[in-house]
Amino acid sequence: MLHDTIAVIDFGGQYAHLIATKVRRLHVYAEIRQPEDPIEMYRGYKGIIISGSPSFSAFGEDSGYTKAIYDLPLPIVGFCFGHQEIAKHYGGEIIHGGKEWGHTELHVCADSPVFKGLGKVEQVWMSHFDTVTSVGPDFEEIGYSKLGAEGDVHRFAAIASEKLKRYGFQFHPEVDDTVNGETIIRNFVLDICVCRPTWTMDNYLEEQVRRIRGRVGDDSVFLLASGGVDSTVTAKLLGMAIGPERLHLLHVDNGLMRKGESRKVLETYKAIGLGQNLHFVDASEDFLAALQGLVEPEDKRLAIGNTFLAVFEREARRLGIEDHLLGQGTIYPDTIETGGTKRADTIKTHHNRVPLVEEMIARGKVIEPLAELYKVEVRELGETLGLPRKLVWKHPFPGPGLGVRLLCSRGESDTTEFERIVPEVKKAAARFGLEAEVLPIRSVGVKADLRAYEHPVLLSGDAPWEKLRQAAGTIFRDVYGINRCLWNLGGGAPRFFRPLAAGVTRERLDLLREADAIVMEGLYRHKVYDDIWQCPTVFAPIEIDGHGRELVIVRPIHSERAMTAAPARLPDTLLAELKASIFALPGIAGLALDITSKPPGTIEWE
Ligand code: XMP
Repeated sequence: MLHDTIAVIDFGGQYAHLIATKVRRLHVYAEIRQPEDPIEMYRGYKGIIISGSPSFSAFGEDSGYTKAIYDLPLPIVGFCFGHQEIAKHYGGEIIHGGKEWGHTELHVCADSPVFKGLGKVEQVWMSHFDTVTSVGPDFEEIGYSKLGAEGDVHRFAAIASEKLKRYGFQFHPEVDDTVNGETIIRNFVLDICVCRPTWTMDNYLEEQVRRIRGRVGDDSVFLLASGGVDSTVTAKLLGMAIGPERLHLLHVDNGLMRKGESRKVLETYKAIGLGQNLHFVDASEDFLAALQGLVEPEDKRLAIGNTFLAVFEREARRLGIEDHLLGQGTIYPDTIETGGTKRADTIKTHHNRVPLVEEMIARGKVIEPLAELYKVEVRELGETLGLPRKLVWKHPFPGPGLGVRLLCSRGESDTTEFERIVPEVKKAAARFGLEAEVLPIRSVGVKADLRAYEHPVLLSGDAPWEKLRQAAGTIFRDVYGINRCLWNLGGGAPRFFRPLAAGVTRERLDLLREADAIVMEGLYRHKVYDDIWQCPTVFAPIEIDGHGRELVIVRPIHSERAMTAAPARLPDTLLAELKASIFALPGIAGLALDITSKPPGTIEWE
């Protein structure tokens, strides 16, 4: 290995990715390993971190991972589930029970290098059901937890064997709510594993350029350039490594882009010195034809993906570059998710792993220079490459674009569960002084790492933002079958919703483009664009109280990796402007702000 590296064993959820990101921030490389990876794959690491798990219990049943890691002469630390596993492996005991959740006090009760720089009492974040009740002979308790002065003592919240260099924490050092979590991770990685912090972006850039030159040789590279952060950074990096004359960029207008986006993308590539072999094709008719009559989101995604490939093959032949290497902007979480893991959340289909691409990968014809990076690191690399800030911090936009955000319907009301759900929802919302209606459609969400199609609720009434958030955070827990809350910006509480039959048409797309452009322009003008991770604007074909054809849903969110998200508050003046401008568009039935976090909602609707 070129750099000192830590292995992070991924037991699901987003824990492992969060841990890896935190380690990499120390300029030490971290790689995700799957529990079933054979011991040979652990060669060369300087230390191992066992992640927490949303679904595994260390109690009783065998959680089936490569236990031979414990025979390696490497420091190992486990967080939450990993902590329990380490305790168990070395002769400790675990029970079901002793649950702790949320901010908790950690009382440090022994000196340990892993706690260097910490106080005697630290705020940590707990989220567990099982508990360690004793440790084996080589281990000692180095911290216990307690909720305030009155709280019960929970023993063995932190354990260590300095001799074996094994550590376990019942809390999650990787989450920001553990105030000194980064110090603990730093102590483990830099002091205990003795990793040298050489993994800097400058070094990475230099190494990647060398690697790309070695890989490409005298060949040329063909890259689909969407204009998104990942493909733009890939293009710039490839251009730097092999020279713009051997880099062919193809921008496809699939008709599902934002307003004026294709024109801006072409201007951008020229402005960053990649205009030499820049090709453009307007394939919007191909995509519209392929989408005609489709309603189900996965059918639409598949049609878009297949059309993309057909256009790609056709254009590559036309340009005579079909033998070039294919460049892709695949980033690390996608590499991991499609690497066959059973646990990663498979909420979207990956176009960079369709059979044609798989076959090209097998023939060694694909080059993915960002495959080791998280999004935040791609952005850092973009800055290191000198790309303009506006490009590097552009909001993510899904490959299938507005095709995902333009909801389609057969016009059938889905109200089978309403008899139970509606009274429960109204009661739950009334506690917050809000009126509530359940929409007769379903939207996608994510619960326990799986997709869930459930009903959204539309809340109406004036309430402060915090109260709205509380309502949104409570209702989906109180009422089974609900996964989203919207806040009605359209005035009084609507009474009657009728889903309309609607597919993907140019008219609907153009109208959505207008609404989306109004929202994006508003975010810029009110200087909130940079605070927000992403802000989809969605059309649901619903008539409200006998009026209009589209319910417009605006979904501004804060996020760090898109795996979880919190609704973002927009300034009241911006909301008022959006209301005026969006209702001025033809056929608008209503306007709502999606105030759901992820989970239970996803970022996109579909
Ligand atoms: P979700 O909706 O799963 O989104 O919370 C997480 C991130 O992934 C993006 N996303 C997609 N990107 N094709 C893409 O290229 C898709 O089909 C797709 N669906 C979601 C989404 O915009 C967010 O950044």
